[in-house]
Amino acid sequence: MAAFLTNFSPEFLDEIRSRIRVSEIVGKRLKLVKRGREFLGICPFHNDTKPSLAVVDDKNFYHCFACGAHGDIIKFTMEIEGLTFPETIEKLADIANLEVPIQSPEMRVRENHRKTLKDVNEEACKFYEQTLQSTKGKEGLDYLRDRGLSDPVIKKYRLGFSLRDNNDLLETMDRRGFALELLIEAGLVRVSEQNKKPYDYFRNRVMFPISDRRGQVIGFGARTIGDSQPKYLNSPETPLFHKGRILYGSAQARESSSKDGEIIVTEGYMDVIALANSGITNVVAPLGTALTEDQINELWRLGKEPFICFDGDQAGMKAAVRAADRALPILRPGYSLQFSMLALGEDPDDLIKRSGIQALKDVLTQSIGLADFIWGQELRAGQNNTPERQADFFKRIRNKIKEISDRGVYEAYKDNIEQKIRELRDYSRSYTKQKNRYTGHSKFGASKWDNSSLSGFNYSKINTSNAMAMRQKQSILATFINHPELIEEFGEALGYLDFGDPFLDKLRLDILDITSTMVGVDVNDLQDHLLGRGYDNSFGGVINSSVLGHAAFARHDAPVTFAKSGVRELLGRIGKYQLEEQLSAAQRVVMEDFSEVNWNRLASLRAALVAVNNGTILEDGF
Ligand code: UTP
Ligand code: MN
Repeated sequence: MAAFLTNFSPEFLDEIRSRIRVSEIVGKRLKLVKRGREFLGICPFHNDTKPSLAVVDDKNFYHCFACGAHGDIIKFTMEIEGLTFPETIEKLADIANLEVPIQSPEMRVRENHRKTLKDVNEEACKFYEQTLQSTKGKEGLDYLRDRGLSDPVIKKYRLGFSLRDNNDLLETMDRRGFALELLIEAGLVRVSEQNKKPYDYFRNRVMFPISDRRGQVIGFGARTIGDSQPKYLNSPETPLFHKGRILYGSAQARESSSKDGEIIVTEGYMDVIALANSGITNVVAPLGTALTEDQINELWRLGKEPFICFDGDQAGMKAAVRAADRALPILRPGYSLQFSMLALGEDPDDLIKRSGIQALKDVLTQSIGLADFIWGQELRAGQNNTPERQADFFKRIRNKIKEISDRGVYEAYKDNIEQKIRELRDYSRSYTKQKNRYTGHSKFGASKWDNSSLSGFNYSKINTSNAMAMRQKQSILATFINHPELIEEFGEALGYLDFGDPFLDKLRLDILDITSTMVGVDVNDLQDHLLGRGYDNSFGGVINSSVLGHAAFARHDAPVTFAKSGVRELLGRIGKYQLEEQLSAAQRVVMEDFSEVNWNRLASLRAALVAVNNGTILEDGF
């Protein structure tokens, strides 16, 4: 360190120390409580639960009474952020609003170079933005608007466009005095192998500028708007741009996440943008690679328990598993990951487009903690149907958590895992007694699933004799018969419902069956099909004067909004409890087996409950 010190004058270092309070720097990493002229907090340098770290602003130091850690803001930043001395000074100087004096010739060269690389990226970003907004860029803008993006979001994320054929960027940047070598180094221009001529690297693509935490553009992601491959092209690694250290959207997320400390990690650029478009800006994404340790640490700067919300496919699941593996060794007390599962084939962008922002929030509230996640992962890795295999599973999971290096977190995981092992033993004893198990998946789920066996609850035992309950069930079916367009939203809920009445349940399944194979069913279509299946004009008495009198919303001439709120109300009254029971059973199953079938079931149950609850699933304690 002494060697470095000669590069900065002691006066300059003192200037930095005097401009920034120690509590400001330490307070960014841990919670500080004011005690007189000092602050106290839990020391990050050793494992503790009591506040033994004192921060004394007047004297410019922190001191831990338990482990003896001691230093100033420079030492703290170096150790906590793992930065080198010059990097630390650069960072702190930035916070203090000071220019870093450049001492050695090498540093000056390095610094200038970084500056110019930054400049070229910023200039290119502006250029692509302007192209998008110009008449030449109409194609790109149309593409983004088609994907539902609003102008403010396009602006906020500084989206741009690169043209198809010209060397527009190269020529413009050349005119503006940027050297060709620099453009090449920045990855914006390449030299053709054949004719040795330079050409624009990004063409006919929507440009997503990637910025560092402070919002300085350091690279680009670029999506084709045609069908050229690959779909996304990214800037190469440069002295500024290290894919493994950067999270897309982190500058924008930093602004918003400080409020509640919630942060969502998606897989793709478009997910980040789509969520921002719906008002959720605390979202980031890695750059097409698995999350690295650096990125996880970066996430923890934004929030303590980031939600991993990757695509609902094998690749997304794999990436989530890898993130879990990377996180274990670096877990610290209070910091973790949560895993949000999306239905098969879906990404966050699709989900909010199809089911709205509330559906995504529901997915987030249903997230699984890291401990449950690795448990499920390991459990799924083998069949645990013999004592030997079960013992092997216990061994694997116990070994797995040994990767946790923090003692306190490890102890807590150990307790948690041992508890789960006990529960699993109890559960498998009772589980084998149950005969009716889930065997498959139909469009609306329920037909292959005997819910009474798992939930232990059978609505029919309580209510079939009740005339009012009968009328309510009839009203539900009458409403769907007269307003089949509602099935789009409530089909899943209807699928999981169990009327406990053979006739009504048959009619219910017939309605689902008919509508599931048709695109855009209308009233006459559905009724014709039902008549074709042997029902009479009243559909077995479901449409009767008592129903239509009590439930006016079920009438064919009721406005659809009226029908909708009515049916939601009734489904809520009759089906909600069943759905909740099934949901918690499905959650248990998923915890033990993360198969796609089980995922899908959980996702569709969730959707069903959301439909019935009119988006109030959150308030209901889920
Ligand atoms: P996806 O294929 O899921 O992209 O890849 P997406 O974000 O959903 O994009 P749209 O909706 O089809 O436009 C997820 C991420 O993987 C990286 C990108 O970072 C992308 O956002 N990726 C994907 C690449 O780097 N190159 C590719 O060819 C494809
Ligand atoms: Mn995707």
